[in-house]
Formats: sequence, structure tokens, C-alpha cells
Amino acid sequence: MDSASMAEARVRALSGLPEELVAEVVDELRVRHPDAGTPRVFFAPGRVNLMGAHLDYNGGAVLPTAIDRGTVIGVAPRTDGQVQFSSSFEGGDHAFDLARLPERPTGTWADYPLGIVRAMLSLVGAAPEGASFHFGGNLPIGAGLSSSASICVGTAHALASAWGLDLEPLDLVHVALSAEREFVGVRCGIMDPHAVGLARAGHLLWLECSDVRYEYLPLDSERLSILVADTGVRRELAASEFNQRVEECRHAFEILRVSQPEATCLAQISMETLSACAADLDDVLARRATHVIAEVQRTEDAREGLLLGRPEVLGEKMLEAHASLRGLYEVSCPELDRLVETAAGCDGVLGGRLTGAGFGGACVFLIERGSEELVGARLKEGFREAFDREPEVAVFQAAGGPVELEV
Ligand code: GLA
Repeated sequence: MDSASMAEARVRALSGLPEELVAEVVDELRVRHPDAGTPRVFFAPGRVNLMGAHLDYNGGAVLPTAIDRGTVIGVAPRTDGQVQFSSSFEGGDHAFDLARLPERPTGTWADYPLGIVRAMLSLVGAAPEGASFHFGGNLPIGAGLSSSASICVGTAHALASAWGLDLEPLDLVHVALSAEREFVGVRCGIMDPHAVGLARAGHLLWLECSDVRYEYLPLDSERLSILVADTGVRRELAASEFNQRVEECRHAFEILRVSQPEATCLAQISMETLSACAADLDDVLARRATHVIAEVQRTEDAREGLLLGRPEVLGEKMLEAHASLRGLYEVSCPELDRLVETAAGCDGVLGGRLTGAGFGGACVFLIERGSEELVGARLKEGFREAFDREPEVAVFQAAGGPVELEV
């Protein structure tokens, strides 16, 4: 980013971000890190994925957008060579000497920003100074809105600014990926940090995960809103079930590539190959591969629709994607299904599906602008009838990537 756009970014207002959240982060930073210098404040969005469900680790294209809710990060310089982290969401403040950073994860939330500091150090060599960080914001954790990529990309952006480094958004994305994969030890796909780091307001990101080419597709915010409904369901086994899907897809690809040797990933296997090799796959692998290969086509169709100014095609494909995630990929749950079923019969809804990995978490809906209240009320009512409680419902606009905020 050049210095003019940095300056512009610095004063940009964030529609979805209440001022008191920013003030709270500044206050907490001052109270919990009284010996640090003057604070600066940064924001990094969360993300929702509209199409390309479970395609990133299969080498397909995905269609996420950043949302105007996310992580607020206060950072202040230190002269004692330490990095310190505190959070409004998690207990326990953490302090580390920059000269002796832990080699292994600590098993706490601080591993994410710590992994970023380590990755930034290996990029730049030596740290110009220490820093205190405080994390706050308004992104629900564990809802499938990518709070970890938001924290990681946001910390990388804040640290680069604090240390006066001129890094490109893609550098920040790589720092975030290496922190999560190599330090925290999560086998995450590439979608989340790219969605957060490369986001452009009013647009969806089209990201080809096989070669990381990307472009922006406009989302008409005069006409459309993104509504997210969080089931509140958090499944302990989500991480291991996610890893199991990654493994099943790897296994299906090993078998199918024999008949299509030029394919470099499961997303490149054709439906013809899959049909011809059906007998080589067991039932489970056949269902997973069918989801992936059909989702590649649905995601292409959605892109065409958007380029032709027909967002209703995207909506239809989202509904088809959900049916496939439920029946073939088996990552849905009754609460997510209830939300999608309720929305499908509701005026103003173009489409919707579970977002993120699934196994609980949230659904994303593409709706007509102006129908937010009606759709939100209908979703709550339908959910309450079935489960005797209400989901959290929030409306988002497609937001830009990390920015510095005025304080
Ligand atoms: C999780 C992962 C992403 C992606 C989605 C499924 O959110 O973090 O990389 O695989 O699941 O589309």
C-alpha cells in the first residue's frame, strides 16, 4: 500500500464498528500496559464464505468477503524489548522477551499473536522495539467467521505499522499463514487469511486456491445485504472432524488421479472421471468427492451470475451448496438446517448456506436490502419453534481489509 492510501485508510470510518469498542481497547491497553508508549489502534475484519465450501484445501476457487465486524487491536511501543499481549475476551496476560521467544506453542490464545511476532522477525531479522498489544472487537469466536485469521492478519498489520515496515497485503497474508501452520500447528486452508488480508469493500474475493490468482467481483450493496445467523452450537470435535474431511479428500484424490493423471488436486477431477471410477471409491469417499467436484461447478456458475448482474444465481447456488454440505459432505447439523429451511421460504432471501467449516457455527444469507428485519425475525421465530432459543442475527456489508483507526 502506498503512503497516500495508508493515510486514507487511517481516517476511514468503519460503519459497523461502534466507537466505544475502540475506546475500550485504548483504555484497556493503558490500564493493563501502563509502562507502554502512545497507543495506535487497528481493525481487521472477519470473513464469510459465500461459495466454494471446503474447496480451498482441495485446490478449487472460493468466494469469500470480509465483513465489517472484526478484531480491534491496540498496540503501544515498549523500550524493554518485550512483547506483551492481553485480551478483552480471554483471561491471562502474556509477556515474552523478543530475544528469547518460545520455540513451541504455549497452548494459550497468545500463540496466535506470538506466532505472528516470530514470523515477522524471521522476515525482517531484528525487531526495532518491543510492543504491548490489547485485543478486543465484535467478532464472535468459534462461529465460523474466522476470528483466528482476523487476529493473525490484524496483528501482522499492526506490527508492520508499529515497526515502520512497508509490507504488501500479500506479505501479511503469508506471515499469518506461517504463524497458524508452523507455530500454532493448525492445518488451515489458505482462504481465511487471504479473505481478510486482500478484502475490498463492496466486493467478493474470487480466489483460485490452486495457484492463488485472485480478482474482485462487485456485490451491489445498494441492493443486497449479507445476513449471518449464529446457531450458538460449538462442537468440541469440529477440529478433528475437519481434519478427517481433509484426509478423506486426499484419499479420494489419490484414487481418482490414476484415471486423470494431469489433475493436480481433487477440484480438477472431472465429473466424468468420478462417474467412471465410482466402483473404486467406497461410499464415504464417493460422497465427499461428489460434493467437491459439483461445488467447483456451482461456484463457477455463481461467478457467471454475478458478472452478468444476476445475484439470484449466487443465491440459488448457495442453497444447493448447503444441501450438498448436509447430505454429501456431512458437516451440517439440525440447527444450521433449520435456519436454511426457514430462510428458503422467506421473501427477500436469495439464498443461504452454512459458512466456515460447519459442525455448528453460523449460516450466511444473501438477502435484498430492506428485508433485514423481516428475515431476521422470521429466522429467529423458526429457530425458536424448533429449539426453544434464538440465534444471534447480524447484518453485514462487504468490508475492506485491515486498517488503522483514528483515536
Ligand atoms: C474452515 C477453514 C477454511 C475452509 C473452510 C471450509 O473455515 O478454516 O480454510 O476450509 O473451513 O470452506
